[in-house]
Amino acid sequence: METSALTHHWHPIATGEQIGEQPRRFTLLGEDLVAFRTERGVKVFLDLCIHRGVALSLGFIEGGILRCGYHGWAYDETGVCVDIPSLPKGSPIPSKARAIVYPVVERYGLVWVALGEPASEIPAFPDDEWDDPRYRAIVSQQYTWRTSAGRAVENFMDISHFPYVHEGVLGSRDNTEVQKHEVSTRNGGLHYFLEAPEPADLHSKPGDVVRWEYFLTGPFTIHLRKTVPSGDVTLISMAASPTTETTTEMFLWIARNHQLDPSADAEFIDFTHGIMEQDRLVVESQRPEKIPTDLRDELHLKVPDASGIAYRKYLAAIQGAAAYMP
Ligand code: FES
Ligand SMILES: [Fe+2]
Repeated sequence: METSALTHHWHPIATGEQIGEQPRRFTLLGEDLVAFRTERGVKVFLDLCIHRGVALSLGFIEGGILRCGYHGWAYDETGVCVDIPSLPKGSPIPSKARAIVYPVVERYGLVWVALGEPASEIPAFPDDEWDDPRYRAIVSQQYTWRTSAGRAVENFMDISHFPYVHEGVLGSRDNTEVQKHEVSTRNGGLHYFLEAPEPADLHSKPGDVVRWEYFLTGPFTIHLRKTVPSGDVTLISMAASPTTETTTEMFLWIARNHQLDPSADAEFIDFTHGIMEQDRLVVESQRPEKIPTDLRDELHLKVPDASGIAYRKYLAAIQGAAAYMP
């Protein structure tokens, strides 16, 4: 997956809490960025001072203005250089003295950045669960994985590894066959569901048939909605951010319409954390790290790998579409 195609999509770089008043460096699609918070929200620039190429994240904020730590050039929140301390007061400032500024939006507890003209919206929750008062929705966990975002998301979509990687938790070796399921397109993403008995989740009884419904809502944003017979719904969701082609920052959300008290959060977080660590081991071992989007690479089984096949086609289409974008 070429990174250029992905510059037209929104990606999270951090949780809202991780960006404070002083500048901090983040990486997205191999670019170093500097982020800081003003009264008008989060600002994100390329982490580079036009004067001598020093990282602006080494500088500091003074009265809402980002000052480079090398010679003190100061940039306002639109990226315009407004002060060069080594010049006599009142001297004109070269019009080329600007920081490169990126669009940024804070939503669902995360700070989303697009490095190019955004071609899509910030991926919404499937049924607006984040803003639904019947749900408790939180940003739950964050991980750095040594893999591509595509590999991380495909793993999240894949059910046939449950009996092996998550035996006794999400699957059982007595029940390994994957039910046929139709992967369809929905709101520019992908959607499918299956029903399967689940061995030992905290929130279903052993042998309960659980409905697993998947919504891919952006290149690397995926929601899994799990419904148990009692009607309790739990969404485990992930926005994977391609920091480089082979490293990924993953942000997880949990939304649920049961056990709404915040004191129950830890139980859900512990449960998903155990699963994520099991996944990390296998996914970080995959070679190549970059997900192949040409279906002639690797081997695909029509039914068990239906989601992976559809996802690779989807990523290949994004790549193709990028050729027609500004
Ligand atoms: S490199 Fe930033 S002010 Fe000189
Ligand atoms: Fe898994």
